Amino acid sequence: MMMMMLSFFLSFFFQAPGTWRWMLGVAAIPAMVQFVLMLLLPESPRWLYRKRRVEEAEAILRKIYPTNEVEYEIRALKESVEAEIEEGGSSEKINIGKLLKTKTVRRGLVAGVGLQVFQQFVGINTVMYYSPTIVQLAGFASNQTALALSLVTSGLNALGSIVSIYLIDRTGRRRLLIVSLCGVVLSLGLLSTVFHKTTSSSPAIGRQETARFGGYTCPAYDSAGSGSSSWDCMKCLTASSPDCGFCAASADKLNPGACLISNSTVRDLCHGESRLWYTRGCPSRYGWLALIGLALYIIFFSPGMGTVPWIVNSEIYPLRFRGVCGGIAATANWISNLIVAQSFLSLTEAIGTSWTFLIFGVISVVALVFVIACVPETKGLPIEEVEKMLEHRALRFRLWKKGNDDERKNSSA
Ligand SMILES: *[C@@H]1O[C@H](CO)[C@@H](O)[C@H](O)[C@H]1NC(C)=O
Repeated sequence: MMMMMLSFFLSFFFQAPGTWRWMLGVAAIPAMVQFVLMLLLPESPRWLYRKRRVEEAEAILRKIYPTNEVEYEIRALKESVEAEIEEGGSSEKINIGKLLKTKTVRRGLVAGVGLQVFQQFVGINTVMYYSPTIVQLAGFASNQTALALSLVTSGLNALGSIVSIYLIDRTGRRRLLIVSLCGVVLSLGLLSTVFHKTTSSSPAIGRQETARFGGYTCPAYDSAGSGSSSWDCMKCLTASSPDCGFCAASADKLNPGACLISNSTVRDLCHGESRLWYTRGCPSRYGWLALIGLALYIIFFSPGMGTVPWIVNSEIYPLRFRGVCGGIAATANWISNLIVAQSFLSLTEAIGTSWTFLIFGVISVVALVFVIACVPETKGLPIEEVEKMLEHRALRFRLWKKGNDDERKNSSA
């Protein structure tokens, strides 16, 4: 998320032609920093232990854990590695079939992988992609302001992850997820409604308005002939080769405006007449509601669905499967990311932005049911307790637990 913010930031300041090379190049810096820091990382104690380098393993654990917990951690590590070795000599490689046959691991995987998949399928990247459009819809027409405001949204996103650090151990994972998803559902509903309104009733294209900019008329509008009388702003923005833009009427941006070729010359010409220039979304009376929808989405998404799936994945698997299972879940996350990124543009072209947001909204409702039913509360529980909980039941139906203590009683009952 910091990277997202950084890239918006850079695209805002590097607007001269050719600077995209810089934008891409700068992205290599954090990767290099990470590479160097990785060299400083200690070996994993589990791996050392398996290689019978017990002393080293214990030394690292002593560095990580406070003195009152370290003995417990050492014992836990020892037991889990020994159990692993007992289960079969070939324990170096864990076979997926066996993973799925172990009830606790299977249930843990359902929760962990499910959360990672839903993190992508509630549409965060689509919403972020549309944030400049949304900002323009809200009446901040210049591309410059739109980009500056998207900087604010990605800032909100980064801030949300910090808030999450404070909330996660106070409220617990499930509650954070449930509240987050409720907010996401509401904001997607709002976004879907506003996009529906703005696309179904956008300002008309005026023939005379357009003629004022003779020579720059959008070719697709020109060649539509008599059909062009039904054109509105949305129709104009979807015209391609060349792309077209909407230059709003000077008196009121909702009055009929001009449909022109979209490039910087024409944009400046439009601004020169102190009119507003739209290329991503059309002017609308309700545009500001979309901005509120966007802000709510990010405020709710980022501390919950944005961060908690990663945390749950670090807590839910029995120690000796944690590496493999965490890896499987992370892979699921990236594959889902790829699927959403590859499909959503064709989706919006086929059914429109409003329906696309609605689909993400429906998926978020499914995610909410999934969290309530399949994700156990792992807050502050040692792994044995989590395992017991997973062993005990596959599905949960209680929406809200008073506190962690209930869950503890339940699981040991
Ligand atoms: C914009 O389009 C007009 C009309 O095709 C053309 O005359 C002008 O040179 C273009 N400006 C830029 C910056 O491409």
